[in-house]
Amino acid sequence: MAEQESFAFESSAAARRSGSRKKSAGRGAKVRRTRADAKKPKPSPKKRRSSGGGDGDGGSRRRSTAADLALQQRDISVSEFFAKNRHLLGFDNPAKALLTTVKEGVDNALDACEEAGIVPDVRVEIVQLSETRFRVAIEDNGPGIIRAQVPKIFGRLLYGSKFHRLRQSRGQQGIGISAAGMYGLITTGKPVVITTRTGKKQAAHHFELVIDTKTNQPKVKRDDEVEWDKDHGTRVEIELEGGYRGGQHSIDAYIGQISLANPHVELVFEPPHKPGTTVEPIIYPRVSRELPPETAEIKPHPYGVELGVLMQMLRDTHSRNLRGCLHSDFSRVSSKVAEGIAKKAGISPTRRPGEMSREEAEKLHAAIQATKLMAPPTDCIAPIGEALLLKALHAEVEADFYASVTRRPAVYRGNPFLIETGLAYGGKLSGDDSVTVFRFANRVPLQYQQGACAITKAVTATDWRSYQLQQPRGAMPVGPMLLMVHIASVWVPFTSESKEAIAHYPEIIKEIRLGLQECGRKVATFIRKRKREADEAKKRAYITQYIPQVAVGLQEILGLSETQTGKVVTDLKDVLERSRKM
Ligand SMILES: Nc1ncnc2c1ncn2[C@@H]1O[C@H](COP(=O)(O)OP(=O)(O)OP(=O)(O)O)[C@@H](O)[C@H]1O
Ligand SMILES: [Mg+2]
Repeated sequence: MAEQESFAFESSAAARRSGSRKKSAGRGAKVRRTRADAKKPKPSPKKRRSSGGGDGDGGSRRRSTAADLALQQRDISVSEFFAKNRHLLGFDNPAKALLTTVKEGVDNALDACEEAGIVPDVRVEIVQLSETRFRVAIEDNGPGIIRAQVPKIFGRLLYGSKFHRLRQSRGQQGIGISAAGMYGLITTGKPVVITTRTGKKQAAHHFELVIDTKTNQPKVKRDDEVEWDKDHGTRVEIELEGGYRGGQHSIDAYIGQISLANPHVELVFEPPHKPGTTVEPIIYPRVSRELPPETAEIKPHPYGVELGVLMQMLRDTHSRNLRGCLHSDFSRVSSKVAEGIAKKAGISPTRRPGEMSREEAEKLHAAIQATKLMAPPTDCIAPIGEALLLKALHAEVEADFYASVTRRPAVYRGNPFLIETGLAYGGKLSGDDSVTVFRFANRVPLQYQQGACAITKAVTATDWRSYQLQQPRGAMPVGPMLLMVHIASVWVPFTSESKEAIAHYPEIIKEIRLGLQECGRKVATFIRKRKREADEAKKRAYITQYIPQVAVGLQEILGLSETQTGKVVTDLKDVLERSRKM
């Protein structure tokens, strides 16, 4: 594979480089082997053993000295790291790689549109070039990208606008789309193609670029102005080795779930088709034209800040004194509260933050924990909302009962978050298997790593038997039910860079359980009522069956005429009908 070749080349080049670095291996260090020696074949372990080599502790292996190791120690670029560990980014098999690429593109498209206040129209096209090769295009009607930023966004890992802020968005790491481009480059050698335009009066730009994994820098292959029929927006095209699969992890399922959690999005999906051919697109229409409420960016809450982070913040602050720093760099700290904290820590409020010692920072940290502070503001979180959740669930499945709950915001590690739960029960849902759980984080469906996710933990830890459902011990409930859990937060604690599962913070698990229990109580009321109705219907059918016999018995005992007997039957049926409770 191209990737393996490039690393093989890399290691021999590294060996050459390390040879040339030996002379500068430190003044005090004794370098045992000279550069010429390095080229000589090493003595085989057998020979060393026969000559009684080794250092006496029984080892016959060649031992490296610290100086030997020093020669091999060097920087690792972030893109080299992730190229080798691409599974951390969600590129561990072909089907997942294709899904991750679509997901990263769509996440960015939706984030960009919403930040610009544009109701999103997103198009996803997949052209199948061969059995295992695809060209994916994701196009949005967002604000576009300024020309100078394009190479850095698509040709560098860890470059983005969302990492250094606390604000609810789908992306947060600054890796997503450049990682997809890098995977495409590694597997096909093809550049990422970007077309973007920032406004009617601006020219559209067409870029072709690759990422240089050794330096984590972009290399621009093409940069032209082009005609584009769109006033503003971005189109990203990536060619990659992938696989198109159906089922729970499919792109179709992902897009379906995207429209479930994003009722304001119109998504057009062209499933895989041969180049030069057309395919009937699948259209997921929007349920509402209302954009999610705009969310505010917040500063870190002091309760969630660890000592090391606090020390860094004291060094980085623009404020000249401690009082100003606490007030302006944290949320919920007024000048008065800041003075109180400083007093509690025994430090002057006018102390220069940059000059504070570790001991002072530790005292400050303890004083913060001992001070009563307001909970973080919650206007930074935009829930989907109970009404829209219900609407979306109705559009998704035909069921007999629907429920949704939006919890009040809570806090984990100083970060505000909010849980929403939705439920559909009965109808066309299959009742023989474990319930289906749709997991969402900041409106993005999570399709892999279900077992590792806090949402799954909360679902299995809930006692569904008390809500009229079956549940094997410690497992998912069984029945005709679809559950939906959404976590919205200014910083979603994912278990890995591939953003597939939520970490097990106790505060988060508790909130999810409370949301599920609320939905559980609602569905239990429905199931009980339905059971009562069914019981009554059964009894009524039974009685109805015997009414004619009762009438015949009465006719015989009381000597009733045919007309009277007929009246008895009608009256009894009438009584039965009138006594219906429901
Ligand atoms: N379609 C787009 N329109 C406008 N800006 C975009 C678009 N795609 C990406 N960007 C910008 O490029 C940046 C980098 O995108 P990238 O997907 O690599 O990281 P991210 O979205 O910030 O975080 P994550 O790694 O979690 O996805 C974004 O932060 C955003 O500012
Ligand atoms: Mg992104």
